[in-house]
Amino acid sequence: MTELPVPALSLVALIGISGAGKSTFARRHFLPSQVLSSDAFRAMVADDETDQSASAAAFDALHYVAGKRLAAGRLTVIDATHVQEHARSTLVALARAHDVLPVAIVLDLPEEECWSRTEQRPDRSFGRGVLARQSRDLRRTLKRLNREGFRTVHVLRGRDEIEAATIRLQP
Ligand code: CTP
Ligand code: MG
Repeated sequence: MTELPVPALSLVALIGISGAGKSTFARRHFLPSQVLSSDAFRAMVADDETDQSASAAAFDALHYVAGKRLAAGRLTVIDATHVQEHARSTLVALARAHDVLPVAIVLDLPEEECWSRTEQRPDRSFGRGVLARQSRDLRRTLKRLNREGFRTVHVLRGRDEIEAATIRLQP
């Protein structure tokens, strides 16, 4: 078991390509109400959690709710891929605006493993190329997180490390 220290008042970005297990990790370690997922917000604004054309509206709404939670001093976890710089910089800015610590938890699972999971999912229909692109973006992401302003960065590599991790909230 590996305990990951996370400040009790922080904005946690889960980071990982599709199929890496972000939503599973969020369900396992946080309260449902602490987790804001881009899928849930796409469904809210567009009736379809996979409708990428709804992403801008979905993230707008997600950031609004995250801001309300942080203003009230509540730990908030964002469940989205976060492999692109602009998605992360918005979160760092939001955390700063509310004077809370931005935390990154990276789930780094081999692309092949994610793909075989994805192929089995009825709720995912994108092609292999999408995952490959996310993977390339993730590699770039890993080098940048500290510089981007994430104060705590936890990187879990592979299924076993992800499985063994627990969260320890720090007062
Ligand atoms: N899964 C699994 N074993 C795990 C974790 C996840 O078999 N230890 C499966 C889940 O049941 C799911 C798939 O792998 O069918 C993807 O997991 P999920 O947590 O949904 O991945 P996400 O990273 O949230 O994927 P997405 O970005 O597409 O939402
Ligand atoms: Mg998910």
